[in-house]
Amino acid sequence: MRLHASGDEKTKLPTIPSEANLHIQCGVCGHPDPSRLQVQRARNVTLRTSSAFLAGILIALAAVWQYGRLDASCLAIKGVNALYARVIPGTPEWHDYPPSPTNAFPDMFPTDVGYPGPTHAGAEPGVAATAPAYPMHSGSVHLVAPPAFAKGKGNSKPRDTRFDLFRSLGSLSPWYSVEPGTFGIDSSPEAPDTCRITGVHLLHRHGARYPADVTSASGPPGFASRLRAHAGRFTASGPLDFLNDWTYKLGQEGLTPFGRAQLFDLGVSMRMRYGFLLKNFTESNTLPVFRTESQNRMLASAQNFALGFFGYPFEDQYHQVITIESRGFNNTLAPYRTCANNDDPNKGWRGGGLQQEWMAIYLHKAVRRLQKHVNGMKLTVADVFAMQETCAFETVALGFSKFCELFTEKEWEGFDYAYDIGFWYGVSFGSPLARAQGVGYVQELVSRLTETPIETHNSSTNATLHNDITFPLGHSLYVDATHEVVVMNVLAALNLSSFAATGPLPSDHIPEIRSFRSAEVASFATNIQFQLLSCDSEPAPQIRVIVNDGVVPLHVLRGCPENAHGMCPVDAFVDAQKENIRRTDWAFACEGDWEVPEGWNTTVGYPDWM
Ligand SMILES: *[C@@H]1O[C@H](CO)[C@@H](O)[C@H](O)[C@H]1NC(C)=O
Ligand SMILES: *[C@@H]1O[C@H](CO)[C@@H](O)[C@H](O)[C@H]1NC(C)=O
Ligand SMILES: *[C@@H]1O[C@H](CO)[C@@H](O)[C@H](O)[C@H]1NC(C)=O
Ligand SMILES: *[C@@H]1O[C@H](CO)[C@@H](O)[C@H](O)[C@H]1NC(C)=O
Ligand SMILES: *[C@@H]1O[C@H](CO)[C@@H](O)[C@H](O)[C@H]1NC(C)=O
Ligand SMILES: *[C@@H]1O[C@H](CO)[C@@H](O)[C@H](O)[C@H]1NC(C)=O
Repeated sequence: MRLHASGDEKTKLPTIPSEANLHIQCGVCGHPDPSRLQVQRARNVTLRTSSAFLAGILIALAAVWQYGRLDASCLAIKGVNALYARVIPGTPEWHDYPPSPTNAFPDMFPTDVGYPGPTHAGAEPGVAATAPAYPMHSGSVHLVAPPAFAKGKGNSKPRDTRFDLFRSLGSLSPWYSVEPGTFGIDSSPEAPDTCRITGVHLLHRHGARYPADVTSASGPPGFASRLRAHAGRFTASGPLDFLNDWTYKLGQEGLTPFGRAQLFDLGVSMRMRYGFLLKNFTESNTLPVFRTESQNRMLASAQNFALGFFGYPFEDQYHQVITIESRGFNNTLAPYRTCANNDDPNKGWRGGGLQQEWMAIYLHKAVRRLQKHVNGMKLTVADVFAMQETCAFETVALGFSKFCELFTEKEWEGFDYAYDIGFWYGVSFGSPLARAQGVGYVQELVSRLTETPIETHNSSTNATLHNDITFPLGHSLYVDATHEVVVMNVLAALNLSSFAATGPLPSDHIPEIRSFRSAEVASFATNIQFQLLSCDSEPAPQIRVIVNDGVVPLHVLRGCPENAHGMCPVDAFVDAQKENIRRTDWAFACEGDWEVPEGWNTTVGYPDWM
């Protein structure tokens, strides 16, 4: 939720050794060469922070550790308590791998030694076209839930046996195949009996990431720095005992190992489902062109997708466009960088107030409960919300988090809903800027579907990149990587109004039925397949929109008929999207000087009070 403020401009401060990885260093106790330890520590742990205040604390802390180390024999360090007594809770603990190796002998490790043995690839798979069912994706392999929530075991008092912690973390949930029918069409992504798949356009989010940088005042880093600020006074007990020696182990912004697996896996699954589409490319002697953008986790996500889709080495098997994500660069995969009004919290990312109202309600009891186990620091609603976020971020970064077991099912549902409120009003159907920011991608989709170049670049599209080479038309497979906020913008821009069917999200309770759930649509590696079909039962080419394996109704669009499989003739779909494009004025939404009227709500993602 702090994506709009992902800081690009970071100052590097001096490298400071942290005591937090003391236990790692203890592995070399047999060779207690202080200078070597020092160097290694300095090399392994770098702290970057733009806050001089924080740096001050850390330097002081390093000094304390240096002092303490003088008489700290390895024997003393072996005692876990002696070790942790020195750890200031919330201290950042980072590990910068790889080192500059002393065993670098590239000649001794050739990558190609010949003799590969006989090999030949088989036919391309096409599960979506050939199998009677579709492989569903469980989403959370590699991740460990706390015992109480482990699947199958149920909670002590299960309120809802379908509760799944990893599907209750809002946009911090790993993506999973939603159950057929979730979005209103009881069909699944394999081709209907009388249809063939002729093309796919995939839009997906990056995989699981680290949170904002360590200087951020909110979220997990904010909570960690609050703990550090209470060093000396803070003690915790009971279920929070682990906090006494908890260090902050999350990196900044990049893809986590699990996130890497998600994208590799998405690449493999797309090859399994749609590999046969590569035949078109072989026949026409062309390579597919995939797009991502320059941010570290975006590029890494695209590369891991390619690794899964093509295997290693993938460089000669496709072309990768890397657009620039930075302020001032037109980019349909990062439109908020040029939409000025998005920086105004009353226009872009509105709903913060509603989210906080809801947080105060659902966390009321949790704050009091947890406070009983904490001395020397007054827990706020924001702290406790950050602890829930830390559960999510630690789980997808480290595989497990002690924070997860601190909360009840109901509190997790509250957390999930808080993310729904944030996304609904911030970047989706409830935001006046959603449609404008999503319309650039919709223009590109229409351009590809009609094989017609974009005439006027009047939104977030970038004319420079719209040429036959970097934006080819007539291909049967497109893959674009982006952020979940953009996926949300695009759903609104496409006018897929079934997601908005239950209306604006209230801030005082969770509605029994709600059509908009961020865990279902905005998760890590969330993905939209635009599936193109040719059917014996239908005269015209058809399109389906499939979000996380759930088929989305298209009959909500003007000109699209009701269809059991959620299909719409491509022409009708394109006409509806052209109308959406005509009715979406980027310049007005993003640059217009307007105020949101008092009491106004939208369900179409546009400033439509005029
Ligand atoms: C369009 O993209 C190119 C390549 O990334 C970049 O150099 C150029 O500045 C962009 N143009 C605009 C107007 O953002
Ligand atoms: C960038 O976007 C603006 C606003 O839509 C547009 O006026 C301009 O032509 C675009 N530039 C390019 C190179 O596409
Ligand atoms: C790609 O190949 C399929 C057959 O596998 C065909 O039906 C489809 O029309 C082709 N698409 C393009 C864009 O050439
Ligand atoms: C957009 O959605 C609304 C609500 O479903 C519908 O009335 C309208 O016709 C749609 N517009 C287009 C262009 O499909
Ligand atoms: C942008 O250009 C398209 C034609 O490519 C047009 O349909 C649309 O109305 C234009 N939008 C604005 C705000 O000028
Ligand atoms: C928008 O609608 C929701 C749900 O009915 C309501 O809680 C909220 O106060 C409304 N916002 C405004 C500004 O009226």
